[in-house]
Amino acid sequence: MTTLNANLADEIMCPCSGTRRSNIQNMFESGMDIDAISRATGALSGCRGCEWDIAHFLDELVKQKNIVCKRGYKADV
Ligand code: FES
Repeated sequence: MTTLNANLADEIMCPCSGTRRSNIQNMFESGMDIDAISRATGALSGCRGCEWDIAHFLDELVKQKNIVCKRGYKADV
């Protein structure tokens, strides 16, 4: 995992589930797609107000690290 700024890593991206940015990044870098992350954390399973932020974050990870999830998630680049 790339080191995130500690405050940024601790940021809760999904208030409904309490899912932090660092959890999402670790799961994504281990090969989980957004659906698997949602099932594991509960993110995106409530109000879905976090949907755009999480999708944008994953897009940025893909762009920065050329990550392609095992299940084929790719950013729109
Ligand atoms: S903020 Fe993520 S489901 Fe509500």
